[in-house]
Parts: sequence; C-alpha cells; structure tokens
Amino acid sequence: MVAGLSFTVAIDGPAAAGKGTIARAVAAHFGFAHLDTGLLYRAVAARGGDPVAAARALTAADLARDDLRSLAAGQAASRVAAIPEVRAALVAFQRTFARQPGGAVLDGRDIGTVICPTAEVKLYVTASPEVRAHRRWLEVGGDEAAVLAEVRERDARDMGRADAPLRAAADAVVIDTSEMSIEAAVLAAITAVEARR
Ligand code: CDP
Repeated sequence: MVAGLSFTVAIDGPAAAGKGTIARAVAAHFGFAHLDTGLLYRAVAARGGDPVAAARALTAADLARDDLRSLAAGQAASRVAAIPEVRAALVAFQRTFARQPGGAVLDGRDIGTVICPTAEVKLYVTASPEVRAHRRWLEVGGDEAAVLAEVRERDARDMGRADAPLRAAADAVVIDTSEMSIEAAVLAAITAVEARR
C-alpha cells in the first residue's frame, strides 16, 4: 500500500462470531484505523427518544458511554438498526471513516454489501449459533439457554430485515470460526488481507 491511499477491510457477520476481535487484530497488525459500527447502533438506541433524531445527532461522546456492551443494548440496537432512516443517517460517517488515508477496518453487518461495496477486502466471519451463544455466555454469564435464544432472535431480525439485511457479499472470504481458535481465525483474516495488498 502506498502511504496516503485508502485501503478498506470490511468485516461482517452475526453476533459473537469473533468479528470484533478479528477486526481489532487486523487493524493492529497493519496499522489501520478500526471502527466497530455496531457501537453506532447501540449508541442510537441508548440515547432514547426518537431513534432517527438520535442517529442524526450522534456524537463521539455517545460512543464513549460505558453501558453499550450489554445484551439488552445489543437487542435495542438491532431494533433501531431495522429503521431505514436510522441507517441512512449513519452512512456518510462510516464511508468517510472507511476511505481515510492509511487504511481502515470496519466491522458490522452491511459493510461489504452496502457501506463499502468497493472495499479492497471483504470478510464474512461466522460460527454456529451454539458456539456463538457459548462465547457470549462466557462474557456475560447468566443462563446459557437464554443467551442462545437472544442470539437466535437477533440473527433472525438482522438477517430478515428489508433494509441492509445481514448476508455475505458475493466476493467475501468466509471464515467459519466454529472450530477455530481465535489465533487461527486472526491468522486467516491477516492472510486474506495480505493477499490483496
Ligand atoms: O457485538 P455484536 O455482534 O453482538 O453486536 P454489534 O456488532 O454491536 O451490533 C449490534 C446490533 O447493531 C446488531 O444486532 C445489528 O442489528 C446492528 N448493526 C447493524 O445493523 N449494522 C451494522 N453495521 C452493525 C450493527
């Protein structure tokens, strides 16, 4: 990569597939900036009130809240994320971030399909619902069956919505982490990026 040029890595996939960990590791490895786009939707929901107005008024301070990581915040995010005007209000910020000089990694649900369809690298990181629920349960505790139900409910909403549903871009490299260590998954992602540089 020539310094100053943009280079976008788009990482999509369902909840707790490992895309956040992979995105951070890829960004650190190549010195790229990283944006967890799920935080935008979590912050919109956390602001309360009219979600469209919240999306239009979102600030950096909203993204710094410490209550965005809970299961409840994830569910609330997936509800506001189905509203087309909410998604539209967040497009420009994400595209500007993606094309900053020096490279960027964005992880989310629609990065390779809608936000950055011309991204140099597209990864689709997935795993079985049971494996993803187990990983999320290790983080949040509580009742594992309830966490699995939450994962399935959010998958159904994210994959079934009309606007920007979760799916792999036709040209995405699919990484199924169900039976992979995080180290192996990170290595697979770095190898895919390396192949396109
Ligand atoms: O970390 P986890 O995968 O559980 O969730 P997240 O990536 O923070 O996303 C939370 C919710 O925001 C998802 O369930 C999606 O409904 C929504 N989202 C979206 O619609 N588009 C994105 N690019 C990122 C998140």
